[in-house]
Amino acid sequence: MAFFSRLILSSKLSSSRFHRLGENLASVGPRANQSLLSQSASYQQSTRNISSSSVEDEFFRSLPRAKYGGRHTVTLLPGLGIGPELSQSVKQLFRVKGVPIIFEEVTINPAAEGMEEMNNAITSIRRNGVCLKGNVETRSLNPAVISRNVTLRNTLDLFVSTYHCLSYPGVKARHQDVNVVIVRQNTDGEYAMKEHEAIPGVVECLKVMTKPNAERLARFAFEYAKARRRKKITTVHKANIMKVSDGMFLEVAREMAKQYPDVEHDDMIIDNCCMQLVSNPHQFDVILTTNLYGSIIVNLIAGLIQGQGLLSGQNYSEQYAVFETATRNTGTDIAGKNIANPIAFLSASADMLYFLKLQEHANRLRKAINQVINVDKIHTRDIRGEAATSDVFSKIYEYM
Ligand code: NAI
Repeated sequence: MAFFSRLILSSKLSSSRFHRLGENLASVGPRANQSLLSQSASYQQSTRNISSSSVEDEFFRSLPRAKYGGRHTVTLLPGLGIGPELSQSVKQLFRVKGVPIIFEEVTINPAAEGMEEMNNAITSIRRNGVCLKGNVETRSLNPAVISRNVTLRNTLDLFVSTYHCLSYPGVKARHQDVNVVIVRQNTDGEYAMKEHEAIPGVVECLKVMTKPNAERLARFAFEYAKARRRKKITTVHKANIMKVSDGMFLEVAREMAKQYPDVEHDDMIIDNCCMQLVSNPHQFDVILTTNLYGSIIVNLIAGLIQGQGLLSGQNYSEQYAVFETATRNTGTDIAGKNIANPIAFLSASADMLYFLKLQEHANRLRKAINQVINVDKIHTRDIRGEAATSDVFSKIYEYM
């Protein structure tokens, strides 16, 4: 079965050069073997987030992807909390099962205020093209120290995050049979990190929306829906209050929808969306939304389907792909206790294997996950089981 497709986009966007650059159109989702699309666009550099035409990025783009002796080199950022233990177990699983991946591991000290380690990580991803990542916390409360996660996404121009929130039938949850894809803005929006105290006691925080980024995000969502035969996209916003910023985001989505008559489009304000998700998540198919709303929605759906330890997410730029858990938790309180649910991280690892076109290995891992969670029901305590992390890994190992 083919899990990858390629998409060549012809742009109808007036404000940008839009040409195909991306190599990998990957897809991924829990349990299911899905084909995935990633699309590529190149824009003239018009905002700080659109760095694709910079000399530096052109240079990195021109480099061949690291693949020595048939093995892909992938950057591994174990992050914090449960990240290091899960990363080590995945490394060992891949090594023993002959998955042709070499991990280039970069550790980042959360307490450090400098960006040296993060710059090393970014250089490594630029070299390798692909990264598997735990959550990298930034513990400093110094406003001058910016979030490392956000820095990574902005520097690599990872403009879109996708999450396939699919229920696991073997897991008891508030709702069953949920199947929603979130296409989330990942660089613009509420995470601009531009805050200042105008006068003592008056603080301002900027939410930055740029039309080119909104357009390529909307384009991605509609192409994704088309390629995956999804029927409807709901754009989630707060344009009734943020009339200019979210207003533009919504308007761009509406304009884009006109080019995709086969995909139904509607919209909903974020407040109502949260209520609708809790009462009837089945009404949603694909949700296109801004940065912060996307994070909230993913966490909310994860709660509905017991998915915080189960769901994975993907971040794409024109050139790079970063795979991580959907709710970017650190799990500091359970680190080292052998009780973390490793499925979200394993699922992110399977997503990465599909992206690298290692379908056979990816399928084996997906099937093993399905067997362990839905059939044997080897569940950790976050999903009301008693199994240890190592029990889950042992069974995955056995089935792979
Ligand atoms: P957390 O890491 O404290 O996790 C929340 C709860 O879920 C904890 O009780 C934890 O033990 C549990 N949990 C998380 N992963 C689990 C797993 N695999 N198996 C079993 N239980 C698991 O998450 P929190 O408070 O959301 O974030 C911690 C840090 O991560 C903060 O610095 C936050 O800013 C950052 N962060 C969180 C994001 C999110 O989507 N929740 C997004 C981006 C950053």
